[in-house]
Amino acid sequence: MAAARQLPETFRKLVITKLSTNYREAVELKTVPMLQPGPNELLIKNRYVGINATEINHSAGRYHPGQSPPLEAGLEGIGEVVSTGEKCTDVPIGQAVGYFKYGSFSEYMTIPSKHVFPLPRIDPAYVSLLISGLTAGIALEKVGEIKKNETVLVTAAAGGTGQFAVQLAKLAGCHVIGTCSTDAKGEFLKSLGCDRPVNYKTENLDQVLKKEYPNGCDVVYESIGGEMFDTCVNRLATKGRLVTIGFITGYKSKLGFSPVKNATLIPKLLTRSASVRGFLLFHYMEEYKPTVDKLVNLYDSGKLKCNIDFGRSSLSGGFKGLDSVVDAVEYLHSGKSSGKVVVELPDDVKSRL
Ligand SMILES: NC(=O)c1ccc[n+]([C@@H]2O[C@H](COP(=O)([O-])OP(=O)(O)OC[C@H]3O[C@@H](n4cnc5c(N)ncnc54)[C@H](OP(=O)(O)O)[C@@H]3O)[C@@H](O)[C@H]2O)c1
Repeated sequence: MAAARQLPETFRKLVITKLSTNYREAVELKTVPMLQPGPNELLIKNRYVGINATEINHSAGRYHPGQSPPLEAGLEGIGEVVSTGEKCTDVPIGQAVGYFKYGSFSEYMTIPSKHVFPLPRIDPAYVSLLISGLTAGIALEKVGEIKKNETVLVTAAAGGTGQFAVQLAKLAGCHVIGTCSTDAKGEFLKSLGCDRPVNYKTENLDQVLKKEYPNGCDVVYESIGGEMFDTCVNRLATKGRLVTIGFITGYKSKLGFSPVKNATLIPKLLTRSASVRGFLLFHYMEEYKPTVDKLVNLYDSGKLKCNIDFGRSSLSGGFKGLDSVVDAVEYLHSGKSSGKVVVELPDDVKSRL
């Protein structure tokens, strides 16, 4: 068991101080006093935090209508337990844990011990298995109801959650089509086992699907919205299921969570007994623990790849420290990232004591 470490008197965290989809304008870095864990809580030193497309929905106040700033920034992370509440004596100091909780863009945080996932070690790959991996794992199985030999279309397939949808659908014995915007991402998709990467900038997705998949797609894992959503609905198979997990093309809209306009949706679904189903991870809490365990096992046994993008090819040259979170959010929204965007929070406590 690791010895309890000496903690600094203060630490830094990112706070949403203004509601805006412009993340740079919405957040500020604050220095705050060190926390004490409550009796059932753990104090965690964050080591890697995940960046999600929806950070800008959170910073616009869309998850907590009516709530005004300051709001906690960040949704997930992994870190090391550095102090425990008096009723958490079973958790060793130094234990690696993962969690979802508002406020992860912080050097330290407290969290009830029952809300963490113990992890074998600190490995940035595990961050990608949290929101991104769980969304793919649960949405495809519980909502998409994928079955062996079905044709599955994944949009933003080379992204944080898309990379897992591709691999999990392949592991389930499906034929997988994945959309992306560059040939480099197409090559990445091939390395994940994707049967038919489609670079939608150089190929017409609708034409590709019509010509190569005349029977349509059985399941679509859709996160783009707008025209992409329409194309996917149009190419659903009889009894096809489109799982809508997001609509990134609408996130910067001042209209907020405005519905996708598609006046012809009803006849398109009706005539094919097809369905459009919504999925929000936070409604599937009972699935978290078994799915995290399953994904960690798949990764640790080499059956699942976790591509992490630390932004080394971005203008900033890499995401290290809380100061780089805004760059990381903007990088994800530039469409240039591949895999899960992650920020490292270095273990530099000793140098700041
Ligand atoms: N419902 C849930 O519980 C849940 C959970 C996690 C994520 N999500 C959703 O899943 C989607 C992906 O999230 P993520 O965090 O994993 O992000 P991500 O896929 O790593 O990054 C977004 C990707 O979307 C594509 N894209 C297409 N149009 C874009 C545009 N106008 N602006 C920016 N990107 C665009 C880009 O890839 P291309 O190369 O393909 O264009 C980009 O790399 C989002 O819609 C997110 O809200 C939902």
